[in-house]
Amino acid sequence: MGKKLILSGVQPTGNLHIGNYLGAIRNWVEDQEKYDNFFCVVDLHAITVPHNPATLATDTYTIAALYLACGIDLNYSTIFVQSHIAAHSELTWLLNCITPLNWLTDMIQFKEKAVKQGENVGTGLLDYPVLMAADILLYDADKVPVGEDQKQHLELTRDIAIRFNHQFGGGETILKLPEPLIKKEGARVMSLTDGTSKMSKSDPSELSRINLLDPPDAITKKIKRCKTDSVKGLEFDNPERPECHNLLTLYGLFSDKTKQDVTTECQEMGWGQFKPLLTETIIEALKPIQTKYKEVMDEQGYLESVLSEGRQKAGAIAHQTLAKVKTALGYSLPI
Ligand code: TYM
Repeated sequence: MGKKLILSGVQPTGNLHIGNYLGAIRNWVEDQEKYDNFFCVVDLHAITVPHNPATLATDTYTIAALYLACGIDLNYSTIFVQSHIAAHSELTWLLNCITPLNWLTDMIQFKEKAVKQGENVGTGLLDYPVLMAADILLYDADKVPVGEDQKQHLELTRDIAIRFNHQFGGGETILKLPEPLIKKEGARVMSLTDGTSKMSKSDPSELSRINLLDPPDAITKKIKRCKTDSVKGLEFDNPERPECHNLLTLYGLFSDKTKQDVTTECQEMGWGQFKPLLTETIIEALKPIQTKYKEVMDEQGYLESVLSEGRQKAGAIAHQTLAKVKTALGYSLPI
């Protein structure tokens, strides 16, 4: 039997932060030898909220370069850009027509983001999860590694596939049901300025997140100013101390230490001792990523060739699935 297929993606909206890394990309890298992997830069999703046309293309390249810099290996993985393969948009339309509207209005992320847009909320934001379902279903993905915030979108993807198969499959499975792959540790990294809200690219405060390309002095400043408390000693899992839990978790993940080891090492520490330790650990962990990023960006034409190859490989699979779906819906395919 062949390897199982993984598909995932990140939006080119702003900088990638350590939440995106720990919740998603690091897990892609760790497991990639076991699977056949497809990682896309989801630039069609990026315009579901107001975006800047002047930076969309460079942001897209930055994310693709960061995939490579974080350790995505082209021997096991394919990297491509969502908008380069028209089948993503086309399947979205077809799936839209079988997706009940209330499934979309019920999505937590839509409700949260729509509030921020006020009256200007676009149809694309409502349709975001159908486009995500199309991304996944086009490749017959077995598993989708994401952070916890994407769990509901994956359940929706499965529901759409079940509905499609039931209505148009004639007893056959046309669209494969994917499984979410959400690791326990790092699936929900919290903001540095509020341990009860998720670290997010859209938080207006830069101090709330550490970006993968932040220089050491920015990381130092952000950790120095991050929210803590005045309790003595450091501990995990105290609901009264969400910041403490989050910062210890970050330390464990970036130093590859277990929760038990971190507890033993840090339980007697004060913030004055812990913060420099965390700062140093994160700076050291991000250094190889930043170095590799620069190498990838400096090699003229390299990224273009990676994405062009990715487009061909991914496009061939996507077009086959799209043809299957269109046939099931009763379309005559062009010869
Ligand atoms: P995006 O760009 O918002 O997030 C990319 C990935 O980062 C994870 N993530 C987090 N993980 C832990 N802690 C956080 N604070 C945190 N913030 C974000 C997200 O869960 C995600 O895995 N809708 C997707 C993009 C997408 C996609 C797909 C993913 C489009 N099509 C198909 C998988 C398969 C998203 O959230 O992008």
